[in-house]
Amino acid sequence: QQLQLNLEQIEKGGYDHFMLKEIHEQPDVITDTFRGRLLPEQGIIRMAGIEDNLEKFLKADKITIAACGTSWHAALVAEYIIEEFARIPVEVEYASEFRYRNPIISENDILIAISQSGETADTLAAIKLAKERGAFVFGVCNVVGSSIARETHAGAYTHAGPEIGVASTKAFTTQITVLTLIALRLAKAKGTLSNSDYQMYLNEMGTIPAKVEEALKQNEEVLKIAQVYKDAPNCLYLGRGYNYPVALEGALKLKEISYIHAEGYPAAEMKHGPIALIDEHMPVVVVAQNQNHYDKIVSNVQEIKARNGKIIAVVTKGDTQVRDLADHVIEVPSISEALSPIITTIPLQLLSYHIAVLRNCNVDQPRNLAKSVTVE
Ligand code: G6P
Repeated sequence: QQLQLNLEQIEKGGYDHFMLKEIHEQPDVITDTFRGRLLPEQGIIRMAGIEDNLEKFLKADKITIAACGTSWHAALVAEYIIEEFARIPVEVEYASEFRYRNPIISENDILIAISQSGETADTLAAIKLAKERGAFVFGVCNVVGSSIARETHAGAYTHAGPEIGVASTKAFTTQITVLTLIALRLAKAKGTLSNSDYQMYLNEMGTIPAKVEEALKQNEEVLKIAQVYKDAPNCLYLGRGYNYPVALEGALKLKEISYIHAEGYPAAEMKHGPIALIDEHMPVVVVAQNQNHYDKIVSNVQEIKARNGKIIAVVTKGDTQVRDLADHVIEVPSISEALSPIITTIPLQLLSYHIAVLRNCNVDQPRNLAKSVTVE
């Protein structure tokens, strides 16, 4: 018993929970995911699974991405980034829906399956269906040698290392890392990004581990906010553009481990329903990056404020406008919007973690959830 306990403590590397350890591992595992693939000085992205199949990607009519849970949120980020950088149409599907309809997919299409475990039954079934229809199937998995890694024609591993916490953290950010590298590689091959933009994104990618490290320094600030809202029955998460999937993921993390009802929404959709819920008891987490949609997000924040909602804003370092309106701000380093989800998601992981701990929830093994869902 004692030995078992000590072993677990060693495995947690000094952290109270695996989830917290995994959140803090992100700068290192993102660096691992880049290793040998991202070479900014040479202006190169090199991934064997893509190089070997470049023609297929360049000729594809469309890319469908199938996934579940957090991996599905990574797929939504990938949709925006592949479409913007490489101008290839992308559709994102819940694997469980894709497999049970008659999806339009054929030999001219590509299916990308995203899965941390590589064992999710619905995702595996989606792969088999796409293969039957003649599509080329590419896997983005974390677990080496997993069923999905074996069942796909080619793929790229996320080098996140073992993820023990049921709520996915480092697997999510490394999935986005891999998919961004793919988008940039395809953009280079297609000539859909200017050389200077391409090089700028490569250089900026290289700064991500340090920026994640900086975002992690907000831990104490986030803990204070968690103390204020730990008893909230509901929480709304809003984001626009690339940070809309981040809002979805933030809400999922909170409900998974703290059992607080949380919903994520694209900020502008607030007026079509969720705004009716806003009063002085409703905490609203707003991902308000100082980027393309800044003035829009500022007006969304004003709308929440006018209804006395409590605003927790994730802002770009140095921001003043949202700071004036928000009840709490969490600063993250500045980065291009397309690359920002990896950074903005960090404080949301920490927020759900601290709230769950304060509520005495079993952070690493939340009730009713499994790390790997091998049944449909
Ligand atoms: C379960 C896990 C989630 C995960 C989802 C998809 O629901 O609890 O954390 O996002 O499965 O898993 P996968 O291994 O396919 O990424």
